[in-house]
Amino acid sequence: MARKIVAGNWKMNHNLKEGLEVVQALEAYLLKIAPKNVETVIAPPFIHIAQAAEISKNTHLSIAGQDCSAQESGAFTGEVSAAMLKSAGAELVIIGHSERRQYFKETHAQLSAKVEQAWANNLLPIFCVGESLEDRKAGHHFKTVEDQISGALGKYDAAQLENLVIAYEPVWAIGTGETASGAQAQEMHAHIRSFIAQQHNATLADEISVLYGGSVKPANAEELFGQPDVDGGLIGGASLQADTFIELIKIGEAVL
Ligand code: PGA
Repeated sequence: MARKIVAGNWKMNHNLKEGLEVVQALEAYLLKIAPKNVETVIAPPFIHIAQAAEISKNTHLSIAGQDCSAQESGAFTGEVSAAMLKSAGAELVIIGHSERRQYFKETHAQLSAKVEQAWANNLLPIFCVGESLEDRKAGHHFKTVEDQISGALGKYDAAQLENLVIAYEPVWAIGTGETASGAQAQEMHAHIRSFIAQQHNATLADEISVLYGGSVKPANAEELFGQPDVDGGLIGGASLQADTFIELIKIGEAVL
């Protein structure tokens, strides 16, 4: 069975104090309920990671990086390596978020190198894919997502890809308040699985986690998480406040 994950991506929000307060509130809640069905993850800004990981080390909350360098180490000013994330306590890393692709022009080759850095350092990559509004209007959404998967991950075999999570995040739904319907999410998630089955095998297609992201909030999470091929969510805005994120964890526990 695919692992079920409710993950928050804080992007460039919360100073250290604000961020650690949210992590503390999540930790207090998770210690009480000890979630059974879902893994819970927060991806704070890099400089919060070591302390966030320290606070959450006894709970079910895992910490993720929002990105990592494609390089192992060296003269790359401003970059943060996968090894550094791991040493600070991160267990996962988001790779290929649409904001990285769009604003930082990250290419398939760079994303592929980042995935390799994550694997080399025992971090689970959450690899993001998703089409723009133009792609969807033109009916190219399936092709765009297939190209993103084969462009960066095409050279890896099924055994390697068992250690990877996919997040489908339609760009038109990220931070816009507009969300894919349950049916649209299900259609793409099923498509991703059939593409993986065709490229690799049915076992990997069944077992790989495919998260949905894009304006997930308590009001729509039940519909989205309730789809048979949706294994959880990658949540931006609604993960910034502990109470809202806790509501999403509860919905995940109930329906995933
Ligand atoms: P959003 O962001 O939930 O604020 O739309 C999701 C994401 O970008 O991961």
